[in-house]
Amino acid sequence: MIETRALGKVYLGSGFARRRTPSGGVALPAGASPQWMSAAGAPRVSGPGAMAQTGGRMSPPRGMDIAALVALDLNIKEGEFFGLLGPNGAGKTTTIGILTTRVRATSGDAWVAGCHVSDNDVELRRRIGVVPQRPNPDRGLNVLENLVFHGAYFGLSTSEATRRAMDLLGKFDIADRVASSVDALSGGQQQRLMIARALLHEPQVLFLDEPTVGLDPQARLALWTILRQLHADGRTIVMTTHYMHEADELCDRLAIIDRGQLLACDTPEKLRAQAPGTTVVEIEVEGDAAAAAARCGAVPGVSSATVSGNSVRALSDRGGEAVPALIRAIEGAGARVTNMNLSSPSLETLFVSLTGRRLD
Ligand SMILES: Nc1ncnc2c1ncn2[C@@H]1O[C@H](COP(=O)(O)OP(=O)(O)O)[C@@H](O)[C@H]1O
Ligand SMILES: [Mg+2]
Repeated sequence: MIETRALGKVYLGSGFARRRTPSGGVALPAGASPQWMSAAGAPRVSGPGAMAQTGGRMSPPRGMDIAALVALDLNIKEGEFFGLLGPNGAGKTTTIGILTTRVRATSGDAWVAGCHVSDNDVELRRRIGVVPQRPNPDRGLNVLENLVFHGAYFGLSTSEATRRAMDLLGKFDIADRVASSVDALSGGQQQRLMIARALLHEPQVLFLDEPTVGLDPQARLALWTILRQLHADGRTIVMTTHYMHEADELCDRLAIIDRGQLLACDTPEKLRAQAPGTTVVEIEVEGDAAAAAARCGAVPGVSSATVSGNSVRALSDRGGEAVPALIRAIEGAGARVTNMNLSSPSLETLFVSLTGRRLD
């Protein structure tokens, strides 16, 4: 449903508008004369729409460019709930921006719902719904009008748009706010309105950029319920977040990104299993717990095994892999396993091991 190949984005310099031209050069607004261009031999800008090029490509001094995304390869399947997890500045919004045609990539390719992001952007936009990082309803319109105007933009009749809007507002528990000004809505209600707007034209893919930032825990849970339902209905969802727990709870698969680089991509379970460090295996035993612990301590991959009451606590560097051997060791000591609990390493542990830093 979504594929990116070596997708890259470099924000050149900063502080003034640029747009990339088909020839690969950079067009500057008329009259623009940034400092780095006035150096000897710099291209001249003369008149409206003038093209500034030096043999095809031009670049500002080193240190001013920001490589927001570096050769990103992703493959997201139809119906998947896919998460982009990373700290602030990782490149999440840039990735969503490119996939939703709001940001132009500087290298690589991307396709969404069968459309190339730059060759077929008009059709692409019809096939996607976007919930931006900050709610951006039209504050001059009430709740229902926001949805109906959006419907008109996608060619829906007023009656059809109203029907769909009422249906979505009902599902998202804000039907009683149809005539409210959007400013009268809570943060959680505004975010739900944004999701309703994104879904009104029945897109194949829903993109959400950090949808729960700033919401209180209750509003966040309400949003999770909505997202889970959309996923259960078969919708393809791509969500960014810097909350590990959220990514872990909601997503089928996750891409962990940092500083524009893809660090890992897998299911939350497999990612957690890749995390180094220690799985705590708590085993309740019937019989001689001390003898059982002594044998558990000799199991390969187990760094320590201690007794607490009738439990053996083993620290495993190989996750659950050590479990069968632990059970054999306990039985070998003449004891019996009555209960067992594993606490896995977290995505946080994995992130720290990959980057040397914490996620938040
Ligand atoms: N329009 C822009 N112009 C220049 N730099 C930008 C722009 N947007 C984002 N960046 C930079 O690109 C990097 C990635 O940003 P972003 O994609 O917003 O990350 P995230 O959403 O993960 O916080 C950051 O270093 C950010 O400062
Ligand atoms: Mg962002």
